[in-house]
Amino acid sequence: MSVVSPAVPPSPEPGYDRLAPRLIPGYASLARLAVALLASSPLASSTEASVLVAGCGTGSELLEARAQRPDWHLTAIDPSATLLEVARGRLDAAAPSIDWRCTRVEDLGVEAAFDGALSVLVLQSLPDDGSKLAFLSALARSLRPGGQLVLVDLMRPERSALQAQVELAWGQFQRAGGESGDPGTLASRVEAPHPIGPARLAALAEASGFGDPAPVFKALNFEGFLLQRRS
Ligand SMILES: C[S@@+](CC[C@H](N)C(=O)[O-])C[C@H]1O[C@@H](n2cnc3c(N)ncnc32)[C@H](O)[C@@H]1O
Repeated sequence: MSVVSPAVPPSPEPGYDRLAPRLIPGYASLARLAVALLASSPLASSTEASVLVAGCGTGSELLEARAQRPDWHLTAIDPSATLLEVARGRLDAAAPSIDWRCTRVEDLGVEAAFDGALSVLVLQSLPDDGSKLAFLSALARSLRPGGQLVLVDLMRPERSALQAQVELAWGQFQRAGGESGDPGTLASRVEAPHPIGPARLAALAEASGFGDPAPVFKALNFEGFLLQRRS
């Protein structure tokens, strides 16, 4: 039996919205869960809270935020003008009031402006050469003290006797979702990620101005964390 190499979605390409649920276990409910977690946080639970969606891509988290919390003031940022256009196409009719910014988080230049933030599958694409720290620091600065970030990322696997089985399971998950199983085809769609482990994430969070990341869910190596800006 051939085994599909584990693959992660690239920065969204045409077909990303079709591909992501086939490659990422739990993707179909990821945005819903991320928004539900933030909506339960001390600051973002308030009416008309300001929420930043960092790396919104084609708009999955925005659609979910609009559905769950139509009162939120949303700022959607992504450095890709193409992806922002796709997201706007999906959102404009339902949410004409979103503040769209074509920029990286690091260049947003706002201080203590948001009650909460979402970052789904973004940190993993940044190298750990100061880029991850700059990204998280900018997110922390953009939040009011006590504001929370829901961070979802592909994490580096723990060394474990079960890891080989986890990777087999990931390949099986992809095939069961309809992927062809040709590792070359999948690999060509994949942007090399830079996953880190939980200890490194905790160190980066501390250096950025967040408290300890609280793990809230895990599906294979995709993990969700809640981080709170220190007061
Ligand atoms: C894998 S996509 C995830 C998109 C969306 N969050 C989702 O889950 O469908 C990663 C996104 O992060 C954006 N991105 C990369 N670096 C970024 C940065 N420094 N600041 C904000 N967004 C960034 C990319 O342009 C891309 O749209």
